[in-house]
Amino acid sequence: MEYVTLNNKLECPVVGIGTFMLSPADAESIGISNFEGKYIEELETKWEIAPQFIQVEAHPYFTQKELRKTLDKYDIKLMSWYPLGHGDKSLISEPIFAEFGKKYGKSPAQIILRWHTQMGFVVIPGSKNVNHIKDNLNILDFKLTDEEMAKIAELDKNERYYHRTDAQLVQFAGWRPTFEKASQS
Ligand SMILES: NC(=O)c1ccc[n+]([C@@H]2O[C@H](COP(=O)([O-])OP(=O)(O)OC[C@H]3O[C@@H](n4cnc5c(N)ncnc54)[C@H](OP(=O)(O)O)[C@@H]3O)[C@@H](O)[C@H]2O)c1
Repeated sequence: MEYVTLNNKLECPVVGIGTFMLSPADAESIGISNFEGKYIEELETKWEIAPQFIQVEAHPYFTQKELRKTLDKYDIKLMSWYPLGHGDKSLISEPIFAEFGKKYGKSPAQIILRWHTQMGFVVIPGSKNVNHIKDNLNILDFKLTDEEMAKIAELDKNERYYHRTDAQLVQFAGWRPTFEKASQS
């Protein structure tokens, strides 16, 4: 197995397209990013402690139905990236979000972010707009009903925005943070 040395001198095995700490002595909790499909299957055969979190693309058009079957088995929490569809107007403009927004006095984006939290996802929206950032935090004072959650579930097209090519995966696997490059020179 191939290993990389982190800046705290821990030796981490390279698994699939990333690095992973196997020993509970090394870390209390672990978060991983983008280990989906065959990669999480590979990890499952090697880990000694399951990760607490996985960060992956998720939004109402792509709810990670398949991956969540594995996550539920190990109580791994999902953290959604591109939670607002990376700003895709067609997602934010789905009439259902305006309809529920009117009922609760919230914007469509707030309805989507609330949906994430009620799905049990940790949500990390990106924004460069101070009012949006404030709005995005203000989603804890209302609750979508089961019927409303079911209506939003109907939007699922199992379609991602971001598609990785095999060539990109090879490139990502070779990437090292700047501090590692500096310590090696
Ligand atoms: N682990 C990974 O591989 C990975 C990959 C991609 C992204 N991520 C992370 O995921 C996070 C989110 O990604 P993202 O920013 O690309 O996508 P996003 O959160 O789905 O969408 C951001 C877009 O939504 C708009 N927006 C945010 N709040 C809004 C609001 N309240 N009302 C209307 N529009 C709103 C933003 O515009 P304004 O700026 O105008 O608000 C921006 O155009 C980031 O932290 C990113 O680093 C991780």
